[in-house]
Amino acid sequence: MGLSKKERAITYFKENEALLQCPVCHEAMHVEENGTVCCDGRHMFDMAKQGYVNMMTHAVTSMYDKSLFEARKQVIDSNLYEAVYAVILNELHDVKTILDTGCGEGSHLDQLQRRATEQFVASGIDIAKEGIVQAAKNYPDMMWIVGDLAKSPYASQSFDCILNFLSPANYTEFRRLLTDTGKVIKIVPQEGYLHQLRELFFADSSKESYSNEKTVTRFRENFENVTVHRVTKTMPITKELGPLLAHMTPMGWHQEKEIEAGKLTEITIDVDVLIGY
Ligand SMILES: C[S@@+](CC[C@H](N)C(=O)[O-])C[C@H]1O[C@@H](n2cnc3c(N)ncnc32)[C@H](O)[C@@H]1O
Ligand SMILES: [Zn+2]
Repeated sequence: MGLSKKERAITYFKENEALLQCPVCHEAMHVEENGTVCCDGRHMFDMAKQGYVNMMTHAVTSMYDKSLFEARKQVIDSNLYEAVYAVILNELHDVKTILDTGCGEGSHLDQLQRRATEQFVASGIDIAKEGIVQAAKNYPDMMWIVGDLAKSPYASQSFDCILNFLSPANYTEFRRLLTDTGKVIKIVPQEGYLHQLRELFFADSSKESYSNEKTVTRFRENFENVTVHRVTKTMPITKELGPLLAHMTPMGWHQEKEIEAGKLTEITIDVDVLIGY
């Protein structure tokens, strides 16, 4: 009989326990036989049966629910972000450890791992428990953690690469977590990102387009070396994908709008891939 999700996760966490640090007292952490992650100061975090560890130190409310993350997985699995992965993969040649901050349901890390020529040790962190539960269920051989990037449970200088895919950044924390030669890869939307959806929903509204200028400026302020790759691609989509695209954005569309999105025949991915070190 094969190992359970939890047993596989315990093994993976144990092998990579050096990456962890207590989010409460900052001591080193150890993984016990039953998967409990525990520091020298006896702060303890249990392994869930799905194979993730909740290391939140305070309660938060997330606007992302289970069905939103299920929609995100289907959209990501449809290869919509293929051209973005090509740019990221070019940066992963010497990367041995990668952390996805605000990883959601984890599919980007999985897609990258499948395409990478060499295997890397991977962890994903998100404050949204629903996302991490799905990540752990679908991708057992990665270290999935419910946690807040502002109080992250990782040791200093642990990662060669930090991925920050359409998620909020924390540059102080990124700097602490990166190795000396480590880099951050941040994906931010550009003005054409999913524009067909916004046109459908926000006719005559200022919400129709947005600028990422401030985000890019802040990124540049935080790194000595920055390169920016713009990826713009319009792809045909199946009629099933439109409603899923509408559902994966946390804007509380009404269901009629999601059904209407079934009329979309194509969608544009338009992002900046920012690389900083
Ligand atoms: C737009 S979603 C992107 C999710 C995923 N990267 C993707 O592309 O499908 C932003 C994610 O950032 C997470 N997030 C927001 N603030 C966070 C924090 N302080 N620490 C960890 N995750 C956070 C949210 O819970 C959410 O899953
Ligand atoms: Zn502790």
